[in-house]
Amino acid sequence: MSSHNEPAGNPSKPSPDTSHALSAYARWAGMYDAVFTRILRRGRMALAEAANAIGGKCLNVGVGTGLELPMFAPNLRVTGVDLSEPMLEIARKRVAELGLTNVDDLLVMDAHELDFPDASFDVVVAPYLVTILPDPHRSLDEMVRVVKPGGHIILANHIAAESGPVAWAESALAKIGPGLGWDPRFPWSVIGDWLEQRNDVTLVERRTLPPLGLFALIHMQKR
Ligand SMILES: C[S@@+](CC[C@H](N)C(=O)[O-])C[C@H]1O[C@@H](n2cnc3c(N)ncnc32)[C@H](O)[C@@H]1O
Repeated sequence: MSSHNEPAGNPSKPSPDTSHALSAYARWAGMYDAVFTRILRRGRMALAEAANAIGGKCLNVGVGTGLELPMFAPNLRVTGVDLSEPMLEIARKRVAELGLTNVDDLLVMDAHELDFPDASFDVVVAPYLVTILPDPHRSLDEMVRVVKPGGHIILANHIAAESGPVAWAESALAKIGPGLGWDPRFPWSVIGDWLEQRNDVTLVERRTLPPLGLFALIHMQKR
């Protein structure tokens, strides 16, 4: 499903096939919060804390059911985008029920082709998104394009273990990966190689997060 070894994204290439994610998240939408609220919470919190410290206009790519939206402080004006309308419907209900006045828009959009002008946002966040994309480099390139010079890109992500029991479990999980809608073997090199190819993006922080160090906060800045 993934083309991790491709060079950094090229906007003239045809858009990658997202039909698998569309059908996976249409199935997940009704039960997503029951399964993923707690386990992915620490990463969302760490990502929101980092974004809150920056403030300004924030793009949340892969906002899903909006579990991270209540974590954003009022100094952020948030636009959320996601491929899946059923996931966004739940996010819209959450915004209405919690009266989240700093959420401006929740839009259907493909992370590989962000429909915003260059340099539109102070911060772009993507909680638990890039591992599930067919072309993560293309989406990262898009995030860099839409963030302002000096702006920040913050990811919370599963990064595969390089060895040991967790690596073994990830290989086992990969066999059901297509059903999960993500690839548990996503290696750091996907992001590391991309960073090496871009001379306009700096790694500010890479921090391992609980539970079990399965997840990481990755904070980058556009020069
Ligand atoms: C694991 S969920 C994360 C949702 C939310 N950020 C959270 O922390 O719970 C991944 C989300 O990415 C969305 N997604 C998958 N492929 C996408 C794409 N190409 N463009 C935009 N969103 C995508 C899915 O619909 C899903 O809502």
